[in-house]
Amino acid sequence: MDAEFKEHNMDSNKRPESMERITTPALAEAFINEQVPALKSQIKDGKVILALSGGVDSSVVAALLIKAVGKQLTCVHVNHGLLRKGEPEQVVRVFRDEMDANLVYIDATDRFLGKLEGVSDPEQKRKIIGAEFIRVFEEEARKISGVKFLAQGTIYPDIIESKGVKAHHNVGGLPEDLGFELCEPVRFLYKDEVRMVGKALGLPDSMVYRQPFPGPGLGVRCTGAITRDRLEAVRESDAILREEFAKNGLEGKVWQYFTVVPDYRSTGVREGERCWDWPVVIRAVNTVDAMTATVEEIPYALLKRITDRILAEVKGVNRVLYDLSPKPCATIEWE
Ligand code: XMP
Repeated sequence: MDAEFKEHNMDSNKRPESMERITTPALAEAFINEQVPALKSQIKDGKVILALSGGVDSSVVAALLIKAVGKQLTCVHVNHGLLRKGEPEQVVRVFRDEMDANLVYIDATDRFLGKLEGVSDPEQKRKIIGAEFIRVFEEEARKISGVKFLAQGTIYPDIIESKGVKAHHNVGGLPEDLGFELCEPVRFLYKDEVRMVGKALGLPDSMVYRQPFPGPGLGVRCTGAITRDRLEAVRESDAILREEFAKNGLEGKVWQYFTVVPDYRSTGVREGERCWDWPVVIRAVNTVDAMTATVEEIPYALLKRITDRILAEVKGVNRVLYDLSPKPCATIEWE
């Protein structure tokens, strides 16, 4: 098992040819039954730390490690203030309350939004969020004595495309003096396999089948310089869109769907008074690899219901638009 573990987890960047595709619950169980003892023998009585975003990859790694080494694992969930409605609460409920994990929850909203104040350049925003994330995580890591391992939810596509969409999640930018050894138990799995394993580990469907969510979160959907009120409009409109998609059987069918609130106002009229408010843009796309994407043809009645709800429930919004642009030439995100 040890030799196999080394081959699977540490030495090579190539998925071993002998590794069977995980296509059934039984194969997912077999993977778990192989990984748990392998993780135990790698970690022994050492301490492990993991940045737990609540996305499927880091959640599966957390669940595997909880099974293998229990409280030797500390999960750190950093709320950068750019998460979707209900996400931090779900992470705390599933991991701390239901799985009895050691979970450190940090609400760093003020810290991130403070650093982002007035910053409108998209790449600069991403850099600030990434760098601040590493700083917050590092501070927490230093508070726990004797941590030897850094667990990460690296998956095979992240290795193949080294500029994978999850690059920012990788907390590999930590200072060397921390001297962590990497522990990446799902590094040879494809996304569908990670989901199979997550399901077999008992994670909720809303985590296992979660749509992709960028590391900088709602920050790239609140275009230009982020303000708290516009960010709330993004969060609330996104929650309405997700709720309506779930009610109408589109959850899990449409690859990625979200709302954007651009830094732009237009005139409107509300209760007989002129208003000067933002638009909400709905985006819903399908893709295989995120390199190209087509637009989901949302039924008109559903679009109308979502529009009515957003206009009635979200503060500061007077228009709803549907983005009909495929990729190319538009990207999936707005910045
Ligand atoms: P684009 O907008 O480039 O997005 O068509 C393709 C996919 O990548 C996601 N995306 C990101 N993911 N950090 C991430 O983790 C980012 O900075 C980032 N930008 C885009 C996007 O949500 C889509 O799934």
